[in-house]
Amino acid sequence: MTTHLVNEFARDVRAGLNKKGQKELPSKYLYDEVGSALFEAICALPEYGLTRADERLVRCHAGELAERMASPVTVAELGSGNGRKTRLILEELSRRQPILYHPIDVSAAALRRCQTEMEHLDSVRVVGLQHSYLPGLREAVAGRPPDTHLLVLFLGSTIGNFERPAAQEFIREVRGTLRPGDGFLLSTDLEKSAQQLILAYDDPLGVTAAFNLNLLARINRELDADFKLSQFQHLARYHARERRIEMHLRSTIEQTITIGKADLTVPLRREETIWTESSHKFNPQEVIQLGERGGFRCEAQWMDEEWPFALTLFIAQ
Ligand code: AVJ
Repeated sequence: MTTHLVNEFARDVRAGLNKKGQKELPSKYLYDEVGSALFEAICALPEYGLTRADERLVRCHAGELAERMASPVTVAELGSGNGRKTRLILEELSRRQPILYHPIDVSAAALRRCQTEMEHLDSVRVVGLQHSYLPGLREAVAGRPPDTHLLVLFLGSTIGNFERPAAQEFIREVRGTLRPGDGFLLSTDLEKSAQQLILAYDDPLGVTAAFNLNLLARINRELDADFKLSQFQHLARYHARERRIEMHLRSTIEQTITIGKADLTVPLRREETIWTESSHKFNPQEVIQLGERGGFRCEAQWMDEEWPFALTLFIAQ
């Protein structure tokens, strides 16, 4: 990472671990090279149905999506993902006209992979934007020709990582960058039994545990810290009132951690946890409401039967 990003990482780690009550680390830092590879492995686990449900929905409905959306010429995607689902959408849209595709991601490596994945698609020009979501989106819309439509993709249920009020605000901000008639395609994981969710986020093979623990390994690597991974346990719990899965890392002993580049020492009690991620679960009506309150109307909502999951197409009002 470049120096200013290291500084930002150090600052965020410092702020999260200095919290008075529940210590926390932002989930966006789970995705370095190792973390992204582990997430790919999670997507292949039988217990983690999200990605397959998302992909089934995109595969089944990409054609209808292309029909319902007033011929977009530009597609912007929040996060570049691995490109598999996006490819299905771009293939459909580019049947009618050439498409400009902007993957938006803070990771240069992720953008390069995405570029390679899409390269062989005729009629799709890929221009990656190395930014966080909203600044990237602003760049994608800046200077676009009048009466062309933009389609924004936010797949994978990443929206679930936001607290609910922040998710609402985020959708409003996305809408703020758009013009009436533009599209917003949103994937959301739906509520299901706590047991099913716990298995999805605490798989028997331990891949999700490795994914979570890698955050500490990453802090060791990049910020010169001394976390001993054997002294932490992965924890997934369902918070029924908030309707979310939380991932934590639990210290199994009383210990003190030193993080050189964050200029920080952190005392941890035995059994104390560091909260690393929330994955909120939704009901279909709530998703529509989020869009409507954000300034969209719902054009279509598709649901997977096998693994409750929704893909919702919104149009900016
Ligand atoms: C990529 C954010 C959608 O919340 O389900 C997978 C990340 N965390 N297993 C999710 C994740 C634990 C995932 N998202």
